[in-house]
Amino acid sequence: MRRSLALVVVAALVCSTQGVPVKPPARAANRFPDGFHLGAATAAFQIEGAWNEDGKGESIWDHMLHAQPNLTKDSGNGDVAADSYHKYKEDVQLLVGLNANCYRFSLSWPRILPTGDTNVINQAGIDYYNNVINELLANGIEPMVTLYHWDLPQELQKLGGWPNIELADYFLEYARIAFENFGDRVQLWLTFNEPNMFCNGYSSATDFAPGANASGIADYMMAKTILLAHARVYRLYDQHFRFKQRGKVGITLDGAWYEPLTNSKEDADASERQLQFEVGLWANPIFSSQGNFPKVVRQRVAANSKKEGRARSRLPTLSPSEIHLIKGTADFFGLNHYFSSFITSGSSGQEPSKLHDAGVVTSTIPGYPTAYWITDVPWGLRKLLNWVHDTYPGYPIFVTENGWADPPGVLNDTGRIHYLRGYVSAILRAINEDGVPMIGYTSWSLIDNLEWMDGYTMKFGLYSVDYDDPERPRTPKASVAVLADIYKNKAVPWKDFENANTTPPS
Ligand code: NOJ
Repeated sequence: MRRSLALVVVAALVCSTQGVPVKPPARAANRFPDGFHLGAATAAFQIEGAWNEDGKGESIWDHMLHAQPNLTKDSGNGDVAADSYHKYKEDVQLLVGLNANCYRFSLSWPRILPTGDTNVINQAGIDYYNNVINELLANGIEPMVTLYHWDLPQELQKLGGWPNIELADYFLEYARIAFENFGDRVQLWLTFNEPNMFCNGYSSATDFAPGANASGIADYMMAKTILLAHARVYRLYDQHFRFKQRGKVGITLDGAWYEPLTNSKEDADASERQLQFEVGLWANPIFSSQGNFPKVVRQRVAANSKKEGRARSRLPTLSPSEIHLIKGTADFFGLNHYFSSFITSGSSGQEPSKLHDAGVVTSTIPGYPTAYWITDVPWGLRKLLNWVHDTYPGYPIFVTENGWADPPGVLNDTGRIHYLRGYVSAILRAINEDGVPMIGYTSWSLIDNLEWMDGYTMKFGLYSVDYDDPERPRTPKASVAVLADIYKNKAVPWKDFENANTTPPS
């Protein structure tokens, strides 16, 4: 890899007892830098339950899964979920058992603002998150708060949801309430989780809520709202909260790694193109020095729109003042990463769609452990981290999600152990050998939860939850001890580190 540093220096010059500067100790390649955040992640709709308790409003996911229960594989919904609304203290103890120093969770917007607007402020919702935050801090765990992890208040869907640019105003007011109520104790904020995923709620009728079926159109329209909403929240924090709260605000984007199928230039271009459609669509306006949607995305969507006989591009335009407003609005880059695949140039996806506009065909990389859509390829994350750092230099990266899924009933989760050892080692190689600046890792997920359309059939938890028992008891899987050891020592054991698949085969 580029920027090869065998060992990294931990601190600047340190003084000997005589006050004479001596060389600082070198940090081993398998060790995290000081102050690194290590923990686990969850999301409100996936774990809280209590869907209509204490004044909470309906979210688009409540609405969709109540109206069409068969959309999820097992007809599961979020009514009770893992009951974390009532069991949050126990969940904080699970984090303690993991030796986590950080917990990433999301606020449910309709729990705080049942109508989505500030005409009704639900104090019980604010109290709940205050309790969670205080419990975390009392146990030495830093809260990282996601403002939006897909559970839009249903009342705002009545206005059209995210493709309606007015939603940026509503999001700004919601964020203001969050900063006012929690910002004295929360230092790490994420505006949105995976816009590239939840925009599927506007491109398909069945994949994600709200199930608005306008592929290749509404999913681009909402990108403009999301970027403006994110930028305005960042600027609000800058102007009104940062000086006293001193926190950091970022956004979490999802990215797989796309390994070119062959050594051809065409396949290298296909890989870059897909990364620009998946990550760059959201990242380029915020993190690049020139701002705006990536050129390749603008050109291809405009060309396809023209071919389709449309009067304008399906991708909205950002005005010079909007480009300026959005550019530079992040203190760090949040990245969710789960898998890698091969990529080549070609045609796939319905017309119109983002995938079709990207003009690529993906396939599984053979020879690696797989579960569902996840392929255990640690070097893919290492390459992606290098790509993010090279493409958007100057921003520290926080891996806000990464994890493995098993079918129900697996407590001896050897697949997850293999996956976590590999991926955490890949992060360490990226930091210590490639020079990628990184500040944290939160594994997905703390507990088994509602995996969206897969219901409760796909288990991402480090701790298992018994969904047949109304008490929802939690049990550690074997991976807890492995990750707890890594988190305690701030290092991957040397043997595991050496054995991890962190370098691509040549
Ligand atoms: C990313 C999403 O943020 C999370 O909600 C989901 O459960 C995981 N990926 C696994 O699919």
